[in-house]
Amino acid sequence: MSGPLVLGIESSCDETGVGIVRGHELLANEVASSVEEHARFGGVVPEIASRAHLEAMLPTLERACTTADVDLTEVDAIAVTAGPGLMGALVVGVAAAKALAYALDKPLYGVNHLAGHVAVDLLEHGPLPEPCVALLVSGGHTSLLLVDDIAGVRGRGITELGATIDDAAGEAYDKVARLLGLPYPGGPVIDRAATGDPRAIAFPRGLTSPRDLERHRFDFSFSGLKSAVARWVETRERAGLDVPLPDVAASFQEAVCDVLSAKAVDACLATGAQHLLIGGGVAANGRLRALLAERAAAAGITLRTPRPGLCTDNGAMIAVLGTEVIRAGGRPSGPELGADSGLP
Ligand code: KG4
Ligand code: ZN
Repeated sequence: MSGPLVLGIESSCDETGVGIVRGHELLANEVASSVEEHARFGGVVPEIASRAHLEAMLPTLERACTTADVDLTEVDAIAVTAGPGLMGALVVGVAAAKALAYALDKPLYGVNHLAGHVAVDLLEHGPLPEPCVALLVSGGHTSLLLVDDIAGVRGRGITELGATIDDAAGEAYDKVARLLGLPYPGGPVIDRAATGDPRAIAFPRGLTSPRDLERHRFDFSFSGLKSAVARWVETRERAGLDVPLPDVAASFQEAVCDVLSAKAVDACLATGAQHLLIGGGVAANGRLRALLAERAAAAGITLRTPRPGLCTDNGAMIAVLGTEVIRAGGRPSGPELGADSGLP
């Protein structure tokens, strides 16, 4: 499919991403990560992330242009993550995008990082079937969204049906990994370590009691689960028993993925949406994908899962969201575009 040639810049957390798309065709998606620099602190250190973006931005941009075989002067528009995310990290991407747009005299579109996680699926599976439900699960966010218009230009745009009331799902993975002595980021490590019995330990499923469901049908809570894992491990250690990592990891993962998949499918049934989409770093999780596939099929819902490499933060998701905004007739951002760390 042809369309505008859009360059997308992402810098909301610890990944510097530059993507280039033409319509829904992915031409380049280069990512430089500072994750290893954060690993010894057990989480993202904002100042390290900002400095890393500053250093990586131009080399990543150059690599993307080379991969796509595109000269910057050919680009039709620049899209950039305006929020939400870490302020100091966002500012680097927005400043780079503004400078590029100004120098090249091209329109600039400041877009929402979370909508980008949803839009990226367009690159794999074509136009979004709107309305659809999106389960967004990352290190900073966990929410269920009803997507009427991904570009946010007409009608109801994107409505939040529910969200986590404490930790994000990725954050829970990272914290549990830490207490199990595993490295950061914990999600992929636990995913690989979870080779044991998922029913070995009955960890709690947050906000699933009938009483909680009345008020929090589409909300999530993972901090109780994290504490339950910590208590379980502590009790074992105090008794001088070993901690069977494959079973603990599998049981923890099952508790997270069970709730995420059950509520996502329920959201489709409640809203009448026929399609369910997943995005964000945790959407790369093997068990979550398997459970969702099973439960969506049983409910007659079509599941759209972007390949794992597109689920984590990248520039192509921002570029393709920019494309949708342009197609929907959205107005470019002015030169006063700022970064908004708390963008809804
Ligand atoms: O979307 P993302 O790349 O960055 C944010 O916007 O947060 O998500 C990063 C999060 C981290 O918490 C990481 O542990 C988690 O996604 N993650 C995973 C997996 N891969 C990354 N969690 C579970 N299973 C995975 N395979
Ligand atoms: Zn993200």
